[in-house]
Amino acid sequence: MKKVAITGSGLFTPDESISNDELVASFNAHVERHNRQNAAAVAAGTAEPLQPSSSEFIVKASGIKARYVVDKSGILDVDRMRPRVRTRGNDEPSLMCEMGLAAANEALRRAGRSAADVDGVIVACSNMQRPYPAMAVELQHYLGVRGYGYDMNVACASAAFGIQAAADAVRQGSARAVLVVSPEICSGHLNFRNRDCHFIFGDACTAVLVEALDGARGEAVFEVLGTRLQTQFSNNIRNNFGFLNPAEVPPRAWDDVLFAQEGRKVFKEVVPLVSEMIVNHLADLGIQAGSVKRFWLHQANLAMNQLIGKRVLGREATPQESPTILDEYANTSSAGSVIAFHKHHRDLAAGDVAVLCAFGAGYSAGSVVMRKAN
Ligand SMILES: CC(C)(COP(=O)(O)OP(=O)(O)OC[C@H]1O[C@@H](n2cnc3c(N)ncnc32)[C@H](O)[C@@H]1OP(=O)(O)O)[C@@H](O)C(=O)NCCC(=O)NCCS
Repeated sequence: MKKVAITGSGLFTPDESISNDELVASFNAHVERHNRQNAAAVAAGTAEPLQPSSSEFIVKASGIKARYVVDKSGILDVDRMRPRVRTRGNDEPSLMCEMGLAAANEALRRAGRSAADVDGVIVACSNMQRPYPAMAVELQHYLGVRGYGYDMNVACASAAFGIQAAADAVRQGSARAVLVVSPEICSGHLNFRNRDCHFIFGDACTAVLVEALDGARGEAVFEVLGTRLQTQFSNNIRNNFGFLNPAEVPPRAWDDVLFAQEGRKVFKEVVPLVSEMIVNHLADLGIQAGSVKRFWLHQANLAMNQLIGKRVLGREATPQESPTILDEYANTSSAGSVIAFHKHHRDLAAGDVAVLCAFGAGYSAGSVVMRKAN
């Protein structure tokens, strides 16, 4: 069987960014207005007043300082509090496809490849813009890739699951090269009126090219030494949006078809699951955790990543060993660990071993152990 490698990566970052202060100002304007309008009910004890958010809390609890978004003004508009996305005609590329094109073309360029070298496109992300035709088939069309495309959704772990599927296809010879693309418009499923989570997400898109190690000519080539996936059912991160919503009796509330989580429980339950997965994966490959030069972890919460680093290494990971991008990007779901990879791999030397690990709803988790080849 062929050895496989990640030979190029790409990143699309939206132009607009929202700071914590801007987001909190909008949220608190909503809270003040809501409490003013409901003052009588609050005074009568029949309603609870909403509580304000704060930038200090957000940074302390999550490490997030800002997030890129596809539409800033709609999110900050207190009358709307969701992005404004132009409804496109069926003959135009969809927004997710457009983001995917930018990231995929960069990954191809960095890999020294063109669409003609690729046999498959996997769109692996948390939220698809529509059920069909598959986003991947649309992206494949606009990239000019022959072969196949399909979508897969394993929430924040999607990119790791996509990389395993791509690596298996290349290893077994069913594809020469596969693009794994993760367009995430998380602002579309975020409840910006919910104090517990209004600050969590941002938008971005990543892509990686997976192909045979032999003959690879990318700027930076990472041999995939192994992939491992794990899932364990939990409702602690859930989104009830789906095609049955219009048929459901009684209808769901507007905020029941958006992202919701029990953040504390997620933190407590996912840290051991992911730490053990990384430790066991490395041990099975005969690699000492202490010899790993870099961990590109899912970017949801800084303290969570610091704890995972500590459990895996037995000491705190340095910022170089476990780079952070969530301060600037927030949680970009499946794109997060790949953004960390994309932005923080150029300083590694040939022979260095590194781990990409993504985790999230499901629960789902995936690790990709790599060795820099050039
Ligand atoms: C979401 C998360 C940042 C919240 O941080 P936390 O420390 O657990 O905070 P809690 O929700 O327990 O809230 C702590 C307190 O701050 C308050 N609080 C919540 N949101 C607030 C906000 N925006 N501003 C100010 N205070 C806030 C709460 O009401 C609570 O107050 P109390 O102690 O008086 O009850 C954190 O739990 C997390 O990131 N978990 C992991 C989630 C994850 O990885 N998800 C994967 C998604 S893909």
